[in-house]
Parts: sequence; structure tokens; C-alpha cells
Amino acid sequence: MSTQATEPEPTTGASEATFSVRNLWKIFGKNADKVIGTELEHADRDRIKEETGCTVAVRDVSFDVRPGEIFVVMGLSGSGKSTLIRCLTRLIEPTSGSVELDGEDIEKASEQRLRELRRHKMAMVFQHFGLLPNRRIIDNVAYGLEVRGTPRAQRYERARQMIDMVGLAGQENAYPGELSGGMQQRVGLARALAVDPQVLLFDEPFSALDPLIRRDMQSEVIRLQRELNKTSVFITHDLQEALKLGDRIAIMRDGELVQVGTPEEVVGRPANAYVADFTSDVARTTVLTARWLIRDAYPGERTDGPITAPGTVLAEVLPMLAASIAPVRVMEGEALLGYVGRDDVLRAIAEDQLDDSEQVDTIVEETVEEIPDGAIDHGDVTSTGNGG
Ligand SMILES: Nc1ncnc2c1ncn2[C@@H]1O[C@H](COP(=O)(O)OP(=O)(O)OP(=O)(O)O)[C@@H](O)[C@H]1O
Ligand SMILES: [Mg+2]
Repeated sequence: MSTQATEPEPTTGASEATFSVRNLWKIFGKNADKVIGTELEHADRDRIKEETGCTVAVRDVSFDVRPGEIFVVMGLSGSGKSTLIRCLTRLIEPTSGSVELDGEDIEKASEQRLRELRRHKMAMVFQHFGLLPNRRIIDNVAYGLEVRGTPRAQRYERARQMIDMVGLAGQENAYPGELSGGMQQRVGLARALAVDPQVLLFDEPFSALDPLIRRDMQSEVIRLQRELNKTSVFITHDLQEALKLGDRIAIMRDGELVQVGTPEEVVGRPANAYVADFTSDVARTTVLTARWLIRDAYPGERTDGPITAPGTVLAEVLPMLAASIAPVRVMEGEALLGYVGRDDVLRAIAEDQLDDSEQVDTIVEETVEEIPDGAIDHGDVTSTGNGG
């Protein structure tokens, strides 16, 4: 189990990332400069608070957000998520470090340039909708365009399109107070989309919604993301939401990123006990997919098993394996990517219950021996062959 802190992403020329964040710190309080670069830099938050009165909200964070992805930031209350996302647009001034948007150093942007970026390139959706109560829905949605100086007819046309897109056609002339929470958040979404931003920033937008409406809104975000090809940074403290939406998930603790990875990586290979704890309620078989466990065929093993796609979750691979003595063949179109057998899936499930991997090895070996499947040559059971 590797316990790296921040994912050391290869610096492939910052221009390829939408956001490129390096060594970002935000320390609230007067003596912020007395922390960075001193021996206190590595002290825990409480000690820094005690000795300097400062609050370390974001601590030496580095990551890239790739074009077109939904990058989820999750962590407990107070872990620094809102501070981090606000630093991306300089709604909060970082204490040190750099943020680049499409290769442009945000720190160096003038006030005017910042305003431009906020109006044209990025839009934010907040937890508490932030709608203007005395304006009709259409005027709320058109607000960003109005600020930009778009002529009335043009901005109303665009606003109507967005209202349709989020499923609120017919509500143009209503006032926010007349709509349910879910509908108001759709307005918030339409308002953000109206300015056709390249980047959408969501700060726990659905936490105030009840679970069913929340699920609808999540699907809506995924659909819009696909159709409109946006890049999103999405904050949540709900793991299910993170797993559903995130192309990658960054887990924050006390201002630091403790792991950045795909949902499968975070659930299947948690970087430390904190992440493992965070993800312990998730059934691994519903997150891990065949791709995660792909391996080559063992010598002498049958290679005529049922075929499945790499994205099939293990919960769906299991019944196939129950009905077959050969491992499943994982195929992407015509290409054979590899095999997943009973022992591989068993191991993944066993790791759900235990975190001591040596123990898992023993259990898998013992359990596998009990399965009467003489046709399978297991080869080396202790190598997980999970492709990474
Ligand atoms: N303006 C501020 N002045 C001083 N301290 C602040 C300020 N804003 C945030 N903090 C502190 O920084 C830390 C991180 O706060 P932040 O709001 O970023 O957390 P969060 O992860 O968004 O939490 P939540 O899930 O509750 O929204 C907290 O300890 C908070 O008290
Ligand atoms: Mg917050």
C-alpha cells in the first residue's frame, strides 16, 4: 500500500491542464508568513494555531484538473474544501503557491483580468443557491449575461434555452420563493451555464436537497457535463456523490490532499487509514470494475470464459463466474485486455472485510482451495495482477 500524500502528477507542461495547482497554501491570520518556510510548516494545525493564532486551511496542495473531467474534492467539515475552491478563482487570496488556469498564472492577473475570467471562463454553483429573490427566474438566469452587458433580447433567449435545458420550461416568470429547493438549484445551475463557462465550480451544491432530488441533480450534472463538455471541480462531503460524479476524487484532511485518484483507486487502494475509513462503507463490488482486476492468463488456464467489458462492476462479474469454470475474458471491442477469475474477485471482496493484506492472501488461498474447480490452474495466487 503506497502512502503518498499529494499525487505527484507529471508536469506535462501546465498548459495541458485546465487548472494546475502547485504548492498552494492558505493560512488565515496575521502571522501567516511566520509559518511557511519555518519549522512550524510541518507542525499540525492545532500547534500552529496555538503558537501563531493562524488557521491553516489549505496546506501545500498540488494537483491538476484535466480538461473535460469532473474533479471531486471531498473531506470532512473544516478540511479546507471551500477555501481551496475559492483560491482557484482568487475569491480568496492564496497565501503562497501557484494556480494556473489554461496556463495563465492567476496570481499575476490584474483585477480587471480576474473579473473577465470570472465572467467568461468560470462559473460557480453554491450550496445555498444565491438567487436574487426579487427577480424572476429568467432574470436570475440571465444575470451573468446582464453583468457582461449582453443586450436584453439576446440574454433572454439564452436564458430561456438554459431554463429548458435544466427542465424548468414554463417557470421563467416565477420568483425563486415560489420554487422548491431542487428547482431553485436547477436555476442556480442554469445561471452558471448561461455564461457558457469553460469551468464550473460547485461547492456542495446539493447538500440542502433531499436524497431523491439530489440524485436527479447529480444525473443532471453528469448529463450536462457530457453534452456541454465542461470541466468541473465539485466539492462534496458525500462519498456516494463523489463516486457517482467524480472522474477523479481528491480526499482532503486538515488542509492537505491525502489522495488523488479515480473512484476505483480511492476505494480499491486507499492511501492510508483515513481514506480507508472514509470509503469503508462502500461495497467494493459496486465500485471496482473488471478493468481493476485484469491479469494475463495463467499457464494452462482455460481462456474460453464469458466475455465482459472492462467497465463492468464486480457485482455483475460475480454471477458470470459462478456460472463458468473459466475466468471471464475482458474485452474492449475486438481487443482482449485480459482475464478475471474467481480468486481475483474473491480477493477484492475479502479486502473489503480486512485491511491486512497478508491475512487476505491466506484467506483467499484457503477459500479458493475449497472451490471445486479443478479446471482452473491458479498459478501464483499471491500476485493480485490488478494491473497497477
Ligand atoms: N475567513 C476565514 N477566516 C478564518 N478562518 C477561516 C476562514 N474561512 C475558513 N476558515 C477556517 O479554515 C478551515 C477550512 O475551512 P473551509 O470552509 O475551507 O472548510 P470546508 O472543508 O469547506 O468545510 P465545510 O464542509 O464545513 O464547508 C476551517 O478551520 C475554518 O474555520
Ligand atoms: Mg465548505
